[in-house]
Amino acid sequence: MTTTPLQNDRFLRALARQPVDRTPVWMMRQAGRYLPEYRASRADAGSFMDLCRNHDLACEVTLQPLERYPLDAAILFSDILTIPDAMGLGLYFETGEGPKFRKTVRTSEEVAALSVPDAERDLDYVMRAVSTIRRELNGRMPLIGFSGSPWTLATYMVEGGSSKDFRHLKTMLYDTPDTMHQLLDTLAHAVTDYLNAQIRAGAQAVQIFDTWGGALSTPAYLEFSLRYMEQIVSGLIREHDGRHVPVILFTKNGGQWLEHIACAGADALGIDWSTELSDARARVGHKVALQGNLDPNVLFARPSAIRAEVARVLESYGHGPGHVFNLGHGISQFTNPDNVTAFMEALHELSPQYHRD
Ligand code: CP3
Repeated sequence: MTTTPLQNDRFLRALARQPVDRTPVWMMRQAGRYLPEYRASRADAGSFMDLCRNHDLACEVTLQPLERYPLDAAILFSDILTIPDAMGLGLYFETGEGPKFRKTVRTSEEVAALSVPDAERDLDYVMRAVSTIRRELNGRMPLIGFSGSPWTLATYMVEGGSSKDFRHLKTMLYDTPDTMHQLLDTLAHAVTDYLNAQIRAGAQAVQIFDTWGGALSTPAYLEFSLRYMEQIVSGLIREHDGRHVPVILFTKNGGQWLEHIACAGADALGIDWSTELSDARARVGHKVALQGNLDPNVLFARPSAIRAEVARVLESYGHGPGHVFNLGHGISQFTNPDNVTAFMEALHELSPQYHRD
């Protein structure tokens, strides 16, 4: 790939804890159903997975939020469940019910039968989307690649979809921990290969979404989630095209484990709104940058309330480098796009003062 110089490197600078002129921002799920232009592209594509598999449409929806808002990073449009789908589990989406798999993985035989997908071959549509988006961005801003954590992928594979109590998964964890470890190890290899393929295709930073790590006890989190994210981080390509490739770890509801997560080898930690950034910063010191943490539901409120919360989050992190502004989780499909404009305006007006000497 020919290297086009980056016109906006605020996001990468903040991840490296280098000075910036204002706090960079992107939003988890920034391309999605709250945008009418996304709903139009989605209707053209057919199903959600048809949209992910079509690299031109995946590129189109990735760029949509960047046209509307002054964001500092693009994120690949895809899903974390592409890996289990490539393992043959048969992913599908039922309206209003979230993701589902035709096959589940619950026994040691079913775990042993799984093989690590060849990312370049079995997930070539994702790599094609990455290279198409990089070409279309043409250096405007960096592109983030992503994957689910092994633990979070396992929740969907064992339960067969979303779950409230993780009944089958926790039965496996406590009854047959060796089987659980074998599943997570296979997934850690799959995620490492998948993220490295995204990096080779052009992803300039990667985020691991550990959406369900917070459902574990402390010892179980360290043993069944963090350990495998650490294994992945140690296997990732960290230098590509002459640049460092930063890694962001996001464990939803993982606030109590930040000291541990900060030692996993990543460049930054995603923080949800249940942990104060001031507290997180004091606890991780200079080890990592922090990303977060506006409650996405603040975006249902009036512009004046949104502005007050943006101000509070900025003040909580405080002065100096190392903060990437984001939501504490994905933006809701019921968000009014104009409220995101109010969020961006407040951030761009209020954040520069935190970067002056
Ligand atoms: O941030 C971005 O803009 C990139 C796109 C992205 C999607 N999914 C698109 C999507 C990312 C980063 C994800 C990650 C993802 N997918 C996670 C981890 C992050 C998180 O939110 O915790 C999880 C748990 C999934 C699994 C998944 N995929 C769920 C729970 C759903 C929602 C199902 C529903 O009907 O509400 C999806 C589908 C999905 N992934 C949509 C989008 C825009 C909506 C599908 C549609 O258009 O109908």
